[in-house]
Amino acid sequence: MNDFYDQDIISVKDFDKSKFEKVFSATDKIMKMDPNERRELGRGKTLGYLFFEPSTRTRLSFQAAMALIGGSSLGIADVSSSSTKKGESLADTVRMMSIYSDVVALRHPLDGSSRFAAEISQKPVLNAGSGTEEHPTQAIQDLYTIKKEKNKIDGLKIGIIGDLKYGRTVYSLLYALSNYDVDVRLISPESLKIRADSIYEIQKKLSLKESTNLDEFIDELDVVYVTRIQKERFPDEEEYQKVRGSYKIGLDIVSKMKDSSIILHPLPRIDEISAEVDSTKQARYFAQAEYGKFTRAALLALVLNEHDL
Ligand code: CP
Repeated sequence: MNDFYDQDIISVKDFDKSKFEKVFSATDKIMKMDPNERRELGRGKTLGYLFFEPSTRTRLSFQAAMALIGGSSLGIADVSSSSTKKGESLADTVRMMSIYSDVVALRHPLDGSSRFAAEISQKPVLNAGSGTEEHPTQAIQDLYTIKKEKNKIDGLKIGIIGDLKYGRTVYSLLYALSNYDVDVRLISPESLKIRADSIYEIQKKLSLKESTNLDEFIDELDVVYVTRIQKERFPDEEEYQKVRGSYKIGLDIVSKMKDSSIILHPLPRIDEISAEVDSTKQARYFAQAEYGKFTRAALLALVLNEHDL
């Protein structure tokens, strides 16, 4: 019996190392599987997606993942074209989607929205990004990328750079990394430092150092995880303008990095990594986005199938 079968995926806080490793192993198998065998994993099943915030990668990779395992998908990518516009509640929208589909992927701006949806839904709910703290499928994809690109996670020095206050991928990644033996360096403008109360439970488990100066750590990092300044979450445009463009990874910065280090970014990027970096061997953020299709296919296959992959 597979532990993920018919279960919600709401938070990385519900994962331990063995659960991550199980998803990684399922992802490896999915990537190598014969396409006909792979299509049996989701045959006759439907993914329902509800996106109350914009998305490119998460929604499309969920859809691509469902197609990869032989299923179909339907959903709402723009709530202004749904009955939410007429005032229908989140609860009723989720209830409807769980009638029409076998698994529901939800993105919503409110913290706690996915857990709330899971209480309403008749079908498993996968959190596709909620509020400012949770993006569990992104964290799984990030860890998988690190493991594939560096052949390990334990023992690495990982720098997380940019908007550490509002970036939800940062919190999910830190909780996920707290299951491993890693050194973490947090680099951000003073006003966008990590919210200490949000990582209270893991502060003692992680070896953390903070700085506002990227140069302090850049030459020692194995993984440089860059994040976008989350303009849409600032209460005040003026505050955004003060920190906009704080860190820019260009070829000058890449030249200071270890030859073996990798650059990741959950994307979208705005101007924090210049396009000329894309062709360097350290740039692995598009590979990271591609791994997201396979990790999500593994999660969908595990949730939809009683047996182990
Ligand atoms: N990384 C990520 O969540 O990207 P999207 O917002 O495009 O889905």
